[in-house]
Amino acid sequence: MEREKLFSVKMRSSAAGEHISGAETIVPESEVEEAVLSFLNRARSHSRGSPDFINIKVEEIKEEPLRAPLLPVFHLEGTPSELLKLLFPLAGIPLELGLKTYKLLLSGPAPGGRVMRGAMVVEVPTGRRLEPDKERGIRASTLGITDSAQRELKEKAGKFYTENLKDALILTSKINFFPGVLAELCVSDDPDYTTGYLSISGLGYFRLFNIKPPGHPKGGRAIFVKEGISVPDLISFLQKKPFLATSFPAYRFGLPETFRS
Ligand code: COA
Repeated sequence: MEREKLFSVKMRSSAAGEHISGAETIVPESEVEEAVLSFLNRARSHSRGSPDFINIKVEEIKEEPLRAPLLPVFHLEGTPSELLKLLFPLAGIPLELGLKTYKLLLSGPAPGGRVMRGAMVVEVPTGRRLEPDKERGIRASTLGITDSAQRELKEKAGKFYTENLKDALILTSKINFFPGVLAELCVSDDPDYTTGYLSISGLGYFRLFNIKPPGHPKGGRAIFVKEGISVPDLISFLQKKPFLATSFPAYRFGLPETFRS
């Protein structure tokens, strides 16, 4: 039987030219209306205020999507700096560079201490910033999750499931799929959202609660990459290659056994 056509649905909203929120998904043709409506509602009910501009884009996916599992999630207890001290070395990132990048996200990584519109790209171990534009950064896009993987994630995460977790997990699973990406650190720039993560390629998504003080208006994302990576290839993959998450391995509590010494 022929597969139903797939569509990318993207939403972004702003007020007085300032970005408020964004969301996206990949759905079969028969679910496009539902996705558009749910994004419209989402755009109208964001904690950052009501938008005066909402853009919803619907586009057929012509290229066969890459289908891959989500990263497993590790739910951790402890302060972010204690946990990051353990996690950065596991990702092959020198501790000093990891912590310096964390501080930069908190203080605003764009020129003048502003937040970026996308992620910075940090070369390991040199610390060089590789994104071509330090105001914009790079954004991962054209991604989604199958219904069955979403059900699996909801069941396994139980009361810890949130839409933010789902969106972030899809995004970072795509980012970490690219060869040469070591990890991604995320601190939301939403003042009300204080849960962040470090995701490590091939290992998992480490959920970090209280990654910043409540009310703090800054944050961002840093993608850590190995020396020698092709930045144009990374950008093209992250922006354009359709990525569909097809399963969710596990929601675990604490660090993986093998990491404990
Ligand atoms: N923050 C601030 N501004 C944003 C933005 C964001 N997350 N997303 C879009 N914009 C604004 C920018 O002005 C952007 O212009 P730019 O490309 O010069 O930065 C403009 O909207 C158009 O962005 P575009 O990506 O072409 O819009 P789109 O309608 O195709 O997609 C989203 C919108 C929200 C789905 C997409 O941007 C996205 O997936 N964002 C979330 C992912 C993310 O934040 N990734 C960051 C690290 S990987």
